[in-house]
Amino acid sequence: MKRDVIIACDFASKEATLEFLDKFAGESRKPMVKIGMELYYAAGNEIVKELKRRGHKIFLDLKLHDIPNTVKKAMKVLSALDVDMTNVHAAGGKEMMAAAIEGLTREDGTRPLLIAVTQLTSTSQEAMNEQLLIEGSINDCIAHYAKNAKEAGLDGVVCSPLEGGLVKEACGSDFMTVTPGIRFADSKTDDQKRITTPARAREIGSDFIVVGRPITAAEDPVAAWRRCIADFAD
Ligand code: C5P
Repeated sequence: MKRDVIIACDFASKEATLEFLDKFAGESRKPMVKIGMELYYAAGNEIVKELKRRGHKIFLDLKLHDIPNTVKKAMKVLSALDVDMTNVHAAGGKEMMAAAIEGLTREDGTRPLLIAVTQLTSTSQEAMNEQLLIEGSINDCIAHYAKNAKEAGLDGVVCSPLEGGLVKEACGSDFMTVTPGIRFADSKTDDQKRITTPARAREIGSDFIVVGRPITAAEDPVAAWRRCIADFAD
């Protein structure tokens, strides 16, 4: 898949999601969308199937983290949904990530892209050292987890756009970075801290940007999405 903008559909119901996406009905290409825990737990496989039917590419962001056998079996179920991208926590370890790939791979050898969450952007250096008892710098941890993900056969990681460079340095330019924390230079930052613009994310080397409120809460969401595409993907 080539560079793209993923709209984070952080809505609480199927109805709210479809009402929002109906605004894009006149577009010649459908936006790629992210279904996270809130929407998936509320609307389940039905919303995934409906968005597929409408022609959207889907990133199913469920961040699996469990023993390898459980993750493998869960991924087997998710692979039947035919989403385009899904993810696990790199903290589950290499064996778990390899099991996830196994579960996700269909009989014909195809599978959705699989990426790993390194350290959540809500985890501070202090919390990582003092609560999780992981020593060293958060950037070293992110590079190390990204290398583990690559060795387990994954396609890339989710990280802040500001960490994209160090991931590419550690794992090579073909290893994908999917980056939330995107804001237009003239928009609100909300609760995001480590942010950058779509154009800067492209310069740093993001392969996909995940954009929520700058599009979903915009007065004209279609115009905001087009602006992201123009700055990042075209
Ligand atoms: O509204 P906003 O653009 O901040 O939404 C960003 C999306 O990316 C949300 O769905 C959020 O949960 C997700 N995300 C994030 N930071 C991470 C991982 C995921 O903001 N480290």
